[in-house]
Amino acid sequence: MDQDQHRIAVVYATEQGSTRDIAEFIGTELSSRDAIVQLADIDHAPDLSNFDTLVLGSAVHNMKLLPAVADYAHAHHDELAKKDVWLFSVGLAPALRGPIGRRLGRIVPKKIAALRDDIDARDYRAFAGRYDSDGISLRTRMLYRLLGKGRYGDLRDWATVRSWTDTIARSLRLPPARSTTITP
Ligand SMILES: Cc1cc2nc3c(=O)[nH]c(=O)nc-3n(C[C@H](O)[C@H](O)[C@H](O)COP(=O)(O)O)c2cc1C
Repeated sequence: MDQDQHRIAVVYATEQGSTRDIAEFIGTELSSRDAIVQLADIDHAPDLSNFDTLVLGSAVHNMKLLPAVADYAHAHHDELAKKDVWLFSVGLAPALRGPIGRRLGRIVPKKIAALRDDIDARDYRAFAGRYDSDGISLRTRMLYRLLGKGRYGDLRDWATVRSWTDTIARSLRLPPARSTTITP
């Protein structure tokens, strides 16, 4: 292990797993760029004093990050405010389409904006997650169709996630990803 290697904790809060997948993707990308990465569920978050940077992600429920994130931010407020923190959320809003949907999708819900500012996050990005039609009322489905063009299933956009990860890597001056090409 190199003393100069950047140490990054990627911590996530998920209900149905799509935020964990995105956190894993970000962690894998950053470790391929020579950073030491630890991926952890927020209930098992590592001691931040061992890390230079924190990437923190959460699913969005009812226009808020999951309660575990609010609790974590509260409990570690002073440490987080001093740390290099990159925040992301995973929800339905960024997948909305059409003129009204796109405009709604760009709005950062108040509680999320407050938490982002409270921990002085370096950047915040909202990614699309999964949205399944099972168990959703007809009224909600109709509204969703009107605002969001009614797309269901896995709405994650990995190119957007990769591009944000590149922004983090560039900002931390990480080297380019190790090439996996084998030359004869
Ligand atoms: C109870 C519930 C409430 C939700 N509320 C929102 C919301 O307010 N805004 C949003 O953009 N997405 C909302 N979603 C969509 C989820 O954020 C989305 O399904 C996401 O992929 C879930 O992440 P996870 O798989 O990591 O739990 C909600 C989903 C559920 C089940």
